Amino acid sequence: MQKASTREKGGRHLISKNKRFSDINSANNEKYKKRRITLKKNLQQITVGKPFTAILYSGDESKRNGDVSYPFRCDSNFYYLTGFCEPNAWMIIFSDGKRINEDIILSRKKDKTKELWDGIIIGQRKAKTDYLFDKAYSTEAIDRVVASKLEDSQYVFFPIAERSFSQRITRWLSLLKGKKRMGIDNPGHLGDLSRVIENQRVIKDTYELKVMKKAARISAAAHREAMRISRPGLKELDVETALLQVFRNNEAYEVAYPSIVASGANACILHHRASSRILQKNELILIDAGCEFNGYASDITRTFPVSGKFTKAQKLIYEIVLLAQRDAIQKIKLGEKYNAPHEAAVRSITQNLISAGLLKSRSVDEAVEKQEYKKFYMHKTGHWLGLDVHDVGSYNTAFKKNMVLTVEPGVYIRPSKDIPREFWNIGIRIEDDVIVKEKGCELISREVPVELDEVEQLSSL
Ligand code: GLY
Ligand code: MN
Ligand code: MN
Repeated sequence: MQKASTREKGGRHLISKNKRFSDINSANNEKYKKRRITLKKNLQQITVGKPFTAILYSGDESKRNGDVSYPFRCDSNFYYLTGFCEPNAWMIIFSDGKRINEDIILSRKKDKTKELWDGIIIGQRKAKTDYLFDKAYSTEAIDRVVASKLEDSQYVFFPIAERSFSQRITRWLSLLKGKKRMGIDNPGHLGDLSRVIENQRVIKDTYELKVMKKAARISAAAHREAMRISRPGLKELDVETALLQVFRNNEAYEVAYPSIVASGANACILHHRASSRILQKNELILIDAGCEFNGYASDITRTFPVSGKFTKAQKLIYEIVLLAQRDAIQKIKLGEKYNAPHEAAVRSITQNLISAGLLKSRSVDEAVEKQEYKKFYMHKTGHWLGLDVHDVGSYNTAFKKNMVLTVEPGVYIRPSKDIPREFWNIGIRIEDDVIVKEKGCELISREVPVELDEVEQLSSL
């Protein structure tokens, strides 16, 4: 077993095994405090000055087998509001509707033996001071602390769609029932905390944009490396290894999602994972891979020829997808509806597949209406991006400044009697990450090229 060598400020030798994001314990936890204050204000608007309690949980460690756990990934809402990444931690925001407003953290107690195996546990003293909470308790006190807050609340907010959470809340509320004759009423109003936080998270702040740009830059470098090394004879897994190496060399310890490295016909399997398949001459490789950096996702797809030269049929489809992406990007601007880029991509792909003779319809309107494109383009053109790769946020909305999304049209052609053979098994997707700006948008993942000749050049042997 290897000894942890990183020294923390103050001369500590041990680091927490959950210290996977590089800004943890950096003195800059003000941003999380500010987010909690904003959340409190948003909740106060909903409760119009009535007392409330809001509760979040960081998550359990989940067992892989025996005494081995999966790497812990903190609940994104919890991380967004605390910057605190330990399992079994609770955050409570309480307001009595008047003078008393407090944020509370409950986390694991210091434990010298556990720390010897797993690295430091932050403990209550540091949780309070470094993470800027008003109060800190050990996790064991959760029932007592929640009960005392619920007694004084008319509203309780929690993630209502999470079954284990709902069960806990029901238990806490049923405990309160027993105090009814002592004049203590149940809060009476239950609210979805996830919904309130998601409205906050969908607009990124300056810090988040900076981190997301960095994540996109690292992923773009990984894609460039993949283009550079891919050649006939390598396995999909070798290409995945090259991607991961670039991520980790840049302190992006985790992937934002399992990397898709799909060569040849595998490109038509939308979520194909890297396998031991050997890359062949004259085929394409589709790579959909992005790192997570400081908790934030990037999500990039590029498709390129294994031996550096597109065939005529591949080139035709590549250009159709690239044009669709261009048309979609034009629609990413303030006030435009979220679905406008998808509608533009669908129209563009339909039009060009008709021109290429791959869709038989004569009218674009009719083909769109009948969703004929779905035979070749069966997914949406993007999603919100943030702490989660498919980030939170309503899709019934118009674009606002500093929203971040992906734009990812694709065309996938399965073997079929009515399709000329040279198109069989071509699967192409191009995906970039985009920030909505005051004017138009900014593509943050273009340090890996998309133009056909540049892609050929970078992937040539
Ligand atoms: N990589 C997942 C997605 O593109 O949505
Ligand atoms: Mn995506
Ligand atoms: Mn993707």
